[in-house]
Amino acid sequence: MRNQGSEPVSAHDPASLDLTEDEMRAMSEQALARIVTHVASLGRQPARGDVQAEEFCRALREPTPESASAIEPLLARLFDECIPRSFNTPGPGYLAYIPGGGLFPAAVADFISAATNRYTGVWYAAPALVQLEANVLDWFRSWMGMPATARGLLTTGGSMAGFNAILCARERLLGEETRPGVMYVSMHVHHSIEKAARLAGIFPDRVRSVPVDDAFRMRIDALDDLVRADRARGLRPFLVVSTAGTTNTGAVDPLPAIADICAREGLWHHVDGAYGAFFYMCEELRPLLAGLDLADSLTLDPHKGLFMPYGIGALLVRDGRFLRKAHAIEAGYLPGTPDPDEFYDPSQYGPDLSRGFPGLRVWLCVKLFGAARFRAALAEKRALALDAAERIGNLPGVVMVAPPQLSLFAFHLTWPGATFEDENRATKALVERVTVRGRVMITGCTVDGRFLARVCVLSFRTRQLQIDQCVEDVAAEAAALIPRRQEQA
Ligand SMILES: Cc1ncc(COP(=O)(O)O)c(C=O)c1O
Repeated sequence: MRNQGSEPVSAHDPASLDLTEDEMRAMSEQALARIVTHVASLGRQPARGDVQAEEFCRALREPTPESASAIEPLLARLFDECIPRSFNTPGPGYLAYIPGGGLFPAAVADFISAATNRYTGVWYAAPALVQLEANVLDWFRSWMGMPATARGLLTTGGSMAGFNAILCARERLLGEETRPGVMYVSMHVHHSIEKAARLAGIFPDRVRSVPVDDAFRMRIDALDDLVRADRARGLRPFLVVSTAGTTNTGAVDPLPAIADICAREGLWHHVDGAYGAFFYMCEELRPLLAGLDLADSLTLDPHKGLFMPYGIGALLVRDGRFLRKAHAIEAGYLPGTPDPDEFYDPSQYGPDLSRGFPGLRVWLCVKLFGAARFRAALAEKRALALDAAERIGNLPGVVMVAPPQLSLFAFHLTWPGATFEDENRATKALVERVTVRGRVMITGCTVDGRFLARVCVLSFRTRQLQIDQCVEDVAAEAAALIPRRQEQA
């Protein structure tokens, strides 16, 4: 008889954890019904769920269940109680932080990966599947204008991509003498790079923070001065990490000028394109990211700009031999590839041995939609951000501090007689009040003590409707927050 989820699975044979065909179908159908209802209603769910959940979390603590359960009450707990208590990150109104996405076919790919559970750590165990992942990396390479010598690695996210880039630079330029090595980042670098440096054995006293210009981009003159000063002290500059789209204000560092300095000084140039790199797919947007293709290594975050579900980042290394050198190791008991130059072997290019199969989600989505639709979606997000920035920038009392360089902009409120603290308080309140309205979620950042409201358009579900709602809600809340007398003055 078919298990409709009202009774525990396979209770007839306690030592077996396998399911019958009927049980597999029933379980999948029940989960799928919940998933489809949930995803179809994302646009009607609040942009930020109720995350005031301390009491609820305490109530969730539980001892190990000894006996089996039916699936339906577990799905109910997840979908009715836990999931609503979270940011609606895949929702169309999510304009916060750096949005992700969550393309549905990627979830199907993950289901296939987990259900088939093939081993993609070494080429020999699943050569055809590993080839699909190699294809994905090669697509990224060609989209980013990197040469055929480039090799890459799919990671869990941008943080691990940055970590592996620092390892490559360290191996290439410092060898065993890591302590004199110095790296350079902009003041607006993502904190994951500083953390990755520490993990890679480059301690905070060897990480220089380079000041930025009025558009929040790394200052070349300051970078030059710092490199010279460190050389004069007998240290060994080895790495510059620039950012193609900072998380705070969306700034793109001057990549060609940084590449020039790196070439002249013999430094490794890593570009953190976790937020911005995929915009390079669109030919008309390439000038905004000029020089990205010159990087020695590049972070891309498919769970941002390629709209994948969380859990996938990527690193490209211009001369793939350095990535391989950082990770390759003989394991006597594991077979290698017939030709390491021709066939990609994931565990020889990254720290993981056993791993999931992250390439499948990208492969399936790009095959299903085609690259042109990704380019169209990315170009639309940029156009939407320009539209939102122009309209919000024209609202009374709004100062547009960082117009969009890609698809992110930042601003604050002001009015005659307002102090710095007044402006910070009002701008913080604006972010909260717009988000509480429920249609869009925005967040802020603090730059030199000033609080800025940010809007980042990157979810594939965000369309003109949400931009109109965002402008309306910012306009209404800004008008309410700016003191009336001052407004009339
Ligand atoms: C510019 C930048 N770099 C790196 C990261 C870290 O990426 P992840 O969260 O995927 O580890 C982020 C995350 O938002 C980012 O915006």
